Amino acid sequence: GKGNFRHFMEKELHEHPAVIGDTLHRMVSPATRAVGLPEDLGIDFANISRITMSACGSAFYAGLVGRWWFEAVARIPADGDVASEFRYRAPPLPRDGLGLLVSQSGETADTLAALRYMREQGQRVLSIVNVAESSMARESDAVLETVAGPEIGVASTKAFTAQLSVLACLALAAARARKAISAAQEARMTAALLEVPGRAAEVLEKDEAIQAIAHRVAKARDVLFLGRGNCFPIAMEGALKLKEISYIHAEGYAAGEMKHGPIALIDPAVPVIAIAPSGPLFEKTASNLQEAAARGGQVIVFSDEAGAAKLKGIAAETVVLPAVDPFVAPILYAIPVQVLAYHVAVLKGTDVDQPRNLAKSVTVE
Ligand code: F6R
Repeated sequence: GKGNFRHFMEKELHEHPAVIGDTLHRMVSPATRAVGLPEDLGIDFANISRITMSACGSAFYAGLVGRWWFEAVARIPADGDVASEFRYRAPPLPRDGLGLLVSQSGETADTLAALRYMREQGQRVLSIVNVAESSMARESDAVLETVAGPEIGVASTKAFTAQLSVLACLALAAARARKAISAAQEARMTAALLEVPGRAAEVLEKDEAIQAIAHRVAKARDVLFLGRGNCFPIAMEGALKLKEISYIHAEGYAAGEMKHGPIALIDPAVPVIAIAPSGPLFEKTASNLQEAAARGGQVIVFSDEAGAAKLKGIAAETVVLPAVDPFVAPILYAIPVQVLAYHVAVLKGTDVDQPRNLAKSVTVE
């Protein structure tokens, strides 16, 4: 049941901290507090030539964050495409390649077809699924489970942060196997990861600030979400969730791509929501936001205290989130964008748990 919550989605949003914690604890040794993969996974990251990732919807965005981590942290060439395109592109796949699928249900038709194509192309196949007895789990060489529990709301919430948690652990394990990071870097990143459940609980306490923003967003016809680096996929996740449950048109854009077209859309009626944690790319995003504000855009900022202070002059609204290592920012920032979509949908009176035209599991192409 939903307990005291109005919707399954609201209940599932509140499960983020526990789900992230349970998922991480499957892969972090309590003794050494170091990330380790199950012994029987059978994947030798030191000898993988390339990772090819495929998935649909939110699961694809989780995979894109994973791609970023595999490249930047583990220094493995990685690529990704939505399954409905990937399966028909007929991409040649390399010797010693790893195929990676991400899916809550493990039954999505296009993702399953991508998996079968990867196998035909001689890839070792690893699936990250939330349903252990699913078709994808059965047909994979290796499986990592997200420990999200059943997700009832059609819009994915806790399964998404659980997927990110698994991918972060995988990237750290791969980085160690490839000697891509030092022991000190690994210790710092693992500690940052283990802090996420606590920080996630603090994000859920920002509910009122996010509701205030929801009132503004609910009046809009179009919304732009901007992000960079490992938070660009979080901008796309925010846009997808908003469209899906509030029926407001939204786009997730790479902040640096704005000036190549979408900046023409900016006027006071189009909120620009920035996913802008402090980190190496913050100043770049800040200058893109400056450009949006100069054209009358209402800039809504999700950042930490330091970032919020720097954007004070241009932000119409700000949600101040806990400061975290930039490595784990996408896991944390996924939460407020989902919470925002939830509150906008409630204000609009849509069917939050069962949005029109959508099904929880898409088992037809
Ligand atoms: C978005 C959403 C969908 C799913 C997509 C993939 O909120 O729920 O975009 O992420 O249909 O589904 P799975 O993960 O079951 O393969």
